Amino acid sequence: MKKIAVLTSGGDAPGMNAAIRAVTRTGIDKGWEVMGVRHGYWGLINGDCTPLTARDVGGIIQRGGTILGSARCPEFRTQEGQLKAIAAMQQQGIEALVVIGGNGSQTGAYALSQLGFPVVGIASTIDNDLYGSEITIGVDTALNIALEALDRLKVTASSHQRAFLLEVMGRNCGYLALMTAIAGGSEAVVIPEVETDPEDLALVINAAYQKGKPHAVVVVAEGAQYDANRLEAYFKKHRERLGFDLRVTILGHVQRGGNPGAFDRILASRFGAGATQQIADGNFGVLVGLVKGEIRPTPLTEVVSNKKPIDLNLFELARILDK
Ligand code: ADP
Ligand code: F6P
Repeated sequence: MKKIAVLTSGGDAPGMNAAIRAVTRTGIDKGWEVMGVRHGYWGLINGDCTPLTARDVGGIIQRGGTILGSARCPEFRTQEGQLKAIAAMQQQGIEALVVIGGNGSQTGAYALSQLGFPVVGIASTIDNDLYGSEITIGVDTALNIALEALDRLKVTASSHQRAFLLEVMGRNCGYLALMTAIAGGSEAVVIPEVETDPEDLALVINAAYQKGKPHAVVVVAEGAQYDANRLEAYFKKHRERLGFDLRVTILGHVQRGGNPGAFDRILASRFGAGATQQIADGNFGVLVGLVKGEIRPTPLTEVVSNKKPIDLNLFELARILDK
């Protein structure tokens, strides 16, 4: 092995830079040249690469986002696009690729490996919906941002005896919402994995005031059937009957933009080192993630064909703690 490349793809996640740094420096340590691909699969198809030295990745471990840029690239979903990417890599003498990204990006990585190109994935998405890693890069930082928002909302909600909905990201996965709810002590949580009746939620909100609480805050996952917009419309329509005033905060991309915390920097550094070790071992077509607390590879074929389940005991715990 002489030359490898690294790219970041899909939604950026705090800690991606720490992973790029770790791939680069551990790769150089193994005697390889490391190339950085700009803008994910788009750059791969278009041969947009730059050599990365140990100095090029200095001063980035503490920065959110990705110095390489990311993209959603429809062309790469086609076999034609994938073959173009392989041809561009071969032309530049790139012998193996590290893909830092979430579900979609790892599906792309799997497609490359099915076409015979040596690929190793690194589990990175704030959604924590990737099979093959107990936790992914960016989750902890995004969770802390959502938690700070919840703490702040509780302060203002308590001053006005208002009900609040806080919508957090997560695509189709309720993990971020559920953990925010447990860590911040919301009165209820709405996630895609559990059906929610808005009337039951209204009962919980009113019960909070009857119990003497000064606030009622509900954390809502963006992917829930009743997301914050639908719940707001429902509660506004029935405002007189339900009897509470409601405010809505949709956190959105604020959650993705933070500087990575210690947990994500360390996780990303370990994943980066794990990925170059897989390459050195010749173990391709795998995702490097956290399995039973250790850095382990999982075949991409398993990653793309399994859905990571959410622990519903934690949903029950959130309900019990919301007393
Ligand atoms: P994430 O990796 O954060 O889940 P996306 O789902 O947007 O983000 O995927 C990122 C990119 O991965 C897409 O823009 C596309 O280029 C590639 N990708 C996604 N799904 C596939 C697929 N089924 N086959 C090949 N490439 C894919
Ligand atoms: O996958 C990460 C994520 O932030 C999801 O939580 C969210 O649904 C999506 O990306 C938003 O995508 P975009 O940045 O393209 O708006």
